[in-house]
Amino acid sequence: MKILVIGGGGREHAIIKKLLLSDRVEKIYAAPGNGGIARDAECVPLKVNDIDGLVSFAKENGIGFVVIAPEDPLVRGAADALGKAGIPAFGPSAEAAMLEGSKLFAKAFMKRHNIPTAAYESFDDPGAATEYLRGASYPAVIKADGLALGKGVVIAKDFDEAAEAIRSMMVDGAFGDSGRRVAIEEFLTGPEVSVLSFCDGETVVPMISSMDHKRAGDGDTGLNTGGMGTVAPNPYYTDEVARECMEKIFLPTVRGMKEEGRPFTGCLYFGLMITEDGPKVIEYNCRFGDPETQVVLPLLESDLLTVMEAAVNGKLADTEVKFRRGAACCVIMAHKGYPGKYESGFEITIPEDIIGDVYVAGGKRVDGKLISGGGRVLGVTATADTLADAVSGAYRKVEAITFPGSFCRRDIGKRALEANK
Ligand code: AMP
Ligand code: GLY
Repeated sequence: MKILVIGGGGREHAIIKKLLLSDRVEKIYAAPGNGGIARDAECVPLKVNDIDGLVSFAKENGIGFVVIAPEDPLVRGAADALGKAGIPAFGPSAEAAMLEGSKLFAKAFMKRHNIPTAAYESFDDPGAATEYLRGASYPAVIKADGLALGKGVVIAKDFDEAAEAIRSMMVDGAFGDSGRRVAIEEFLTGPEVSVLSFCDGETVVPMISSMDHKRAGDGDTGLNTGGMGTVAPNPYYTDEVARECMEKIFLPTVRGMKEEGRPFTGCLYFGLMITEDGPKVIEYNCRFGDPETQVVLPLLESDLLTVMEAAVNGKLADTEVKFRRGAACCVIMAHKGYPGKYESGFEITIPEDIIGDVYVAGGKRVDGKLISGGGRVLGVTATADTLADAVSGAYRKVEAITFPGSFCRRDIGKRALEANK
């Protein structure tokens, strides 16, 4: 079968490498892909939001299955358009993708279905929001309603910071229409856990849990990033927490979406916080996480294409989704300076014996060489029987890569190892 994967980052590279292990996969196209993905798939120069172009490409090239990885095309209806054209596509409809596309939809949905999450108020008027903030407790959490490239959440330590966030989102339009409406939320504390799940509209099958490391600096200091590394499983996701999540969060979410006439199919990502009062939803994403995918999929033993097809065809209840025992660690190599200003365009050399475990997030191929691009550039993953070995394995691979102008966090997995003790 010929497959089209929409997207061009490390997450997409991990999906492609896993799909290539399937006997039934004949060829993979990536739109737009990148210089690293080009080793594993044929890259086609189509933008992820060019839905008409993607549908035409799929029709003209005999594509039998499409994986839509990023949130933007999902929220804009890429899965609906492909479905209408008779092409099976992994990913939720636009109506179901609202769980990520509108934070206010997600918050109201959780309220309707009694799903534990931070208390909140919603605002579409900056004056009313600012007035409310005068009496709020701090830190306060301000979230833009719509998609904002992962930058739509501000944790304000006092009124001045909060009022500035409101001004920037609601008045100055820092995120365009995405920030015209906001949610102001109660600040929760506790360890965070990411749980990705396969959904077919009815059945939800959680994958192995993971932990992201969002800050740029060691010890969780510095600016927020797209994610500097991940480990799986997450030690805070105990069997007991998992049971509680299934009962109070995962099942009510999938049932609620079905009841409301927008069944969720695809990968539903639960961003959870394990608070003193139990697990609560911090956010939903309507797609695989990045860089969570780079540790979760390497541990998947089942055939990814078979599982994705089962999600699309409503057959997850009859399909085995098995993860290997053990652990994985992914260390992100980014350009020095990221997430601020940085230089790019460095030649990267990856030894052949580890290239299968390196997921390229940004870069192009020039005369057969991989030249770095984007902020985050490589995800370097190792799996092992224990988390300690996975972490040291990932850092050994990082050392073996030549990439001038890069940096990585040196403490990915440290918190998880300490929690394991
Ligand atoms: P996001 O940019 O949507 O991935 O989320 C940003 C981060 O903000 C989350 O990973 C949490 O660390 C934090 N966050 C979001 N909502 C809350 C909340 N209600 N309380 C505490 N931290 C939060
Ligand atoms: N790692 C968080 C995300 O994919 O949004």
